[in-house]
Amino acid sequence: MKTVNELQTKILVDNLNFYYGNFHALKNVSLEIYKNHVTALIGPSGCGKSTFLRTLNRMNDLIEGVRVEGSIKIDDRDIYVKDVDVVDLRKQIGMVFQRPNPFPKSIYDNIAYGPRIHGTKKRADLDQIVEESLRASALWDEVRDRLHESAMGLSGGQQQRLCIARALAVKPEILLMDEPASALDPIATGRIEELIDILRENYTIVIVTHSMQQAARVSDYTAFFLMGEIIEFDETGVIFERPADQRTEDYITGRFG
Ligand SMILES: Nc1ncnc2c1ncn2[C@@H]1O[C@H](COP(=O)(O)OP(=O)(O)OP(=O)(O)O)[C@@H](O)[C@H]1O
Ligand SMILES: [Mg+2]
Repeated sequence: MKTVNELQTKILVDNLNFYYGNFHALKNVSLEIYKNHVTALIGPSGCGKSTFLRTLNRMNDLIEGVRVEGSIKIDDRDIYVKDVDVVDLRKQIGMVFQRPNPFPKSIYDNIAYGPRIHGTKKRADLDQIVEESLRASALWDEVRDRLHESAMGLSGGQQQRLCIARALAVKPEILLMDEPASALDPIATGRIEELIDILRENYTIVIVTHSMQQAARVSDYTAFFLMGEIIEFDETGVIFERPADQRTEDYITGRFG
């Protein structure tokens, strides 16, 4: 881990409130997410982790009747002001979901999809992006001979690494991962965790996980959510070894949640 004085803020969340209709799902959430570090979001089911993650790339905009207050700045730019290009924003911020969701297309076309939409047309360029992305997600050696076969034929763990490769293909700066390993066996989970460890060199990663062990293994910083609020945020070691708040302690020791 880097020393504190090297920390650079990538995402700055200031007094964020989020509503689904009348339901107040995120309450006065303020958080700094540091560049090239892994931040874990933990907390019991329904406390707003996924909602928070989706505010970071404005995925919640797609849901009817929602309201956002407060500000989120990425590289000092407020992402909720009027002239923000949401397509561009989502290019900058890749997302990986709980269940691997490859398109019913070939492995190659899954990865080439995003770059094509963003204007890359030349075969040689696409070939290069596909290879780079698959290497970065540690899948290349397993699929190099079957790039034109359906992605649906991959195992769950391979599909999840493909989804990570697909996210990387448009060269994002931030990767949001919502329980990326919860549908995977321990070996596939281990591979995803190793991958996160490598990706932190080049990306800012925010990961939601229900596994305390996983949060402790992969993250540098941890935020503990409870009923829409951040109760505590600190270096991961502090959160797991000497949390300041009794509720954090209760949660990580399994007393509730
Ligand atoms: N589309 C929606 N419309 C209305 N309410 C929603 C919607 N999505 C989530 N909520 C509510 O917002 C709250 C937070 O949900 P969220 O999915 O963010 O929790 P979570 O911490 O990710 O939970 P889990 O660990 O189970 O995934 C919950 O009370 C949930 O019912
Ligand atoms: Mg969730």
